[in-house]
Amino acid sequence: MKKFFAVIMFALMLTTTARAAEFEMVEYSAQVKLQWLAAAGIPEAQKFLKLINRPVFFNAENLNDFERMELTNSLYQNLNYAAAMEFVRGKNYKNVFDLACSLSPRAMILGDEGRNVIVGELQTVCLLGDWCLEEFGSKKAIKNVEYNSFWLQDRAGMMASADKFKGEICIIEQGVMIYLADDVRAKMYDNIRDVLKKHGGCLITSDFCQKEYFTAAAAALYGEAEAPKLYAQTKAMYEKVFGDKIDDESLQSEQEALEFLKAHGLHAVKYPLFTVAPKLNVFSRLTPAQIQKVNELSTRNYLWVITAL
Ligand SMILES: C[S@@+](CC[C@H](N)C(=O)[O-])C[C@H]1O[C@@H](n2cnc3c(N)ncnc32)[C@H](O)[C@@H]1O
Repeated sequence: MKKFFAVIMFALMLTTTARAAEFEMVEYSAQVKLQWLAAAGIPEAQKFLKLINRPVFFNAENLNDFERMELTNSLYQNLNYAAAMEFVRGKNYKNVFDLACSLSPRAMILGDEGRNVIVGELQTVCLLGDWCLEEFGSKKAIKNVEYNSFWLQDRAGMMASADKFKGEICIIEQGVMIYLADDVRAKMYDNIRDVLKKHGGCLITSDFCQKEYFTAAAAALYGEAEAPKLYAQTKAMYEKVFGDKIDDESLQSEQEALEFLKAHGLHAVKYPLFTVAPKLNVFSRLTPAQIQKVNELSTRNYLWVITAL
């Protein structure tokens, strides 16, 4: 009996330690994304960081090539952030389901515009998100935004959140696929299909071309020759935060991605990131030549709009 108890206690300890490490990783990745958005000059991201008051994760002392890494990641995050908001506004979606986006500056803004926004995240991020909303969300944002805790692979959890919306939903998912195991990713897409079938709307993402897209963003700043190096350094940086390997190879060929989506009852159409040249916060840090290159990049079809078949 004693032996049995000891085994149970040991298993519990292991689970608790693994869970703690997992949540730590999650909070770190949420924080890193905010660091790049804040460096791009996005006030909401700066407010989140100020409130959670953690030491800045990466700096010139602990990250090689810091200046270029910061600007490249800030540009990439700013592009994603602005492209998703432009899409939602262009189609005037009233319901936005922001999946695994960590603490979400765009939820604050879209909620303040009167749209209903649910951020689907893990519980630790939700607790921080609720606190930030209370502390600096506008009255409208507090009314319209909520953080719901569920795993992406949890159908009932995702559907229970989606069912709170009335009408079509714009789901946003960006940058999480590379962290997911094949079975979790497959479940996430099945769940998204079920939500879209029931409620209508679409999923927007750049995850199926993220490697090419990030490299193009780096090339716009530092040229074609330097871009693969900045991509590789960024991947290594996120692997350090994540504490594991990142799968950035799967589903990066268009044909493979379309077949994967079809197998999950989904269909994709590719759109330009922006329909008119964007005004990005990060432009205040770029030269006119860099801005021109970013404007060229913004017309490329990196935004996948995915609907249920
Ligand atoms: C790298 S971050 C977010 C990336 C962000 N969307 C971006 O654009 O950079 C990954 C986020 O996914 C969340 N996440 C990871 N695995 C998850 C899962 N299985 N279910 C729900 N959320 C998950 C984490 O909490 C974390 O905030």
